[in-house]
Amino acid sequence: MKTRIHGWAIVLLFAACWTPFAGAQMKGKDTGDQQWWKYAVFYEVYPRSFADSNGDGIGDLNGITLKLDYLKDLGVDAIWITPCFPSPQVDFGYDVSDYVNIDPMYGTLADFDRLVSEAKKRGMRVILDFVVNHTSDRHAWFLDSKSSRNAAHRDWYIWRDGKGPDQPPNNWLSTFGSPGWQYDPASKQYYYHYFYPEQPDLNWRNPAVEKAMFNVTRFWYKRGVAGFRLDAVDTLYEDPNLRDNPPLPGKDKFGRPEQDEIYNKKLPEVHATLQRLRKVADEYDAVLIGETWTKDVSQLQEYYGKNGNELHLPMDLMLTELPFTAAAYRDHINAVDSAGGWPTYVISNHDIRRPYTRYGDGVHNDDIVKLMAGFYLTLRGTPILYYGEEIGMENNDPQRKEDVKDPIGVLSWPKDKGRDGERTPMQWTSEHNAGFTTGKPWLPMPESAQARNVEAESKDPQSILAFYKQVLRLRKAEPPLREGVYIPLNEADAYVFSYLRKSKDGAVLVVLNLSASPQNPSFDLRKQGFASAKVKGLLENAASAHDGALKSIQLNAYGVYIGRISK
Ligand code: NOJ
Ligand code: CA
Repeated sequence: MKTRIHGWAIVLLFAACWTPFAGAQMKGKDTGDQQWWKYAVFYEVYPRSFADSNGDGIGDLNGITLKLDYLKDLGVDAIWITPCFPSPQVDFGYDVSDYVNIDPMYGTLADFDRLVSEAKKRGMRVILDFVVNHTSDRHAWFLDSKSSRNAAHRDWYIWRDGKGPDQPPNNWLSTFGSPGWQYDPASKQYYYHYFYPEQPDLNWRNPAVEKAMFNVTRFWYKRGVAGFRLDAVDTLYEDPNLRDNPPLPGKDKFGRPEQDEIYNKKLPEVHATLQRLRKVADEYDAVLIGETWTKDVSQLQEYYGKNGNELHLPMDLMLTELPFTAAAYRDHINAVDSAGGWPTYVISNHDIRRPYTRYGDGVHNDDIVKLMAGFYLTLRGTPILYYGEEIGMENNDPQRKEDVKDPIGVLSWPKDKGRDGERTPMQWTSEHNAGFTTGKPWLPMPESAQARNVEAESKDPQSILAFYKQVLRLRKAEPPLREGVYIPLNEADAYVFSYLRKSKDGAVLVVLNLSASPQNPSFDLRKQGFASAKVKGLLENAASAHDGALKSIQLNAYGVYIGRISK
């Protein structure tokens, strides 16, 4: 059984591209649709790795502009570009030295304006990354802050005396392997950094910091930016009394004793700041997406704000850490969906191993990534697709320590090889360097790029890319997939995760076999209002069912079936 999309469905999907709905995607600021982000498909572009227009081996903004038609055709409505601001690149852009400019390696502000306007012509929006917790140690604010204890910007960062000679102010650790405090011999104080020492934490208790940072968002909104993905929001505030974090059993990946980060993460003050930042965003109908690492659904709920007045889209990153089983997926989605907020599903990003490698069993990898597409793109909520997932890119991890670019990989080699593997260049063609660059790519591509690339997959109706396009088109063409409620089905099934998306316009059935053995689930939809349900297949991979009275669905290993249900 192969991927199959029905002839009539192609006609329908084609029609959908030309209906008023397709045009409605560009509502928003211009037409007053403040909820444009609800039905948009977001796509994360890691600019270093997307497309290199000038042959220096590093992707750039003009490269992204050249690929807008591809993204439009894929079904993308908004592009989130990870940091492209001036930066020493210690953390590949997450160390910003100027928030209101473009790093020359990526282009110029004029290139950025052109990208936004070309995107707009195609009905697409551009979202930027906002690195709120820290700047680069090369940022003018920090250079001044460090220059003396009396500097104007001293209190823009977190400076403290040590507890004693060679003793930092407390036991907080950097998540990137070092202590959380860096000593400055000139001023004889320590500054705090949750990430690399080159990423000093801003002091958000200082109103001047808030004012300057909020103005950064205004600068970009006025340039046509439609919102931000907020980096590391959890770490915005620290305990003013600098209490030690309590110890936990075990060691972390750097071999340090674990600690419970109750005094330097998720402090309640974060919420008041997000509420004020949201007010600014609302002036521009802009969206705020959060990098929100949470331990459970109730923590995730907090980021929406009590009255929905904080983040529009706090990312559900728990999804990337679930066991790959029907029960774990069902339990999690049930909990997220019933919690009430508008979910934001991500299955990977530039910090997380790609699903092809994470879940692949070496036999069914292609089917597994198609199943993932059939899953996160058919749920209620807004999906964020990481570049390259649509062609089934795999992690290409470094084999030797000397090849590692990501400092985490250097620090924790070989236990953790860092994040290079999920950041390799986009694979466009079968040519040398996969059509990404005419120069030497900053990271190598895997051998599989020869066959696994946009050009080759565009010609193959069974490809992962073809499947992604079909799911994305279905999502736009089938109202229940956009607006319908989520109803889990067959909840005792240990292998098959199934659900109905039901709206006033009908219902769509999604059936996912999260196992390597064939399954034949059958469905009784009487409780859902379908006394004698009929089904019409919309899209399948490694699955089949007869159109007509809903009986069982045949699923091969990791098969996915999507069908329309009627009375
Ligand atoms: C989260 C980003 O996604 C990651 O790439 C970065 O290293 C840290 N935040 C620090 O900014
Ligand atoms: Ca940074």
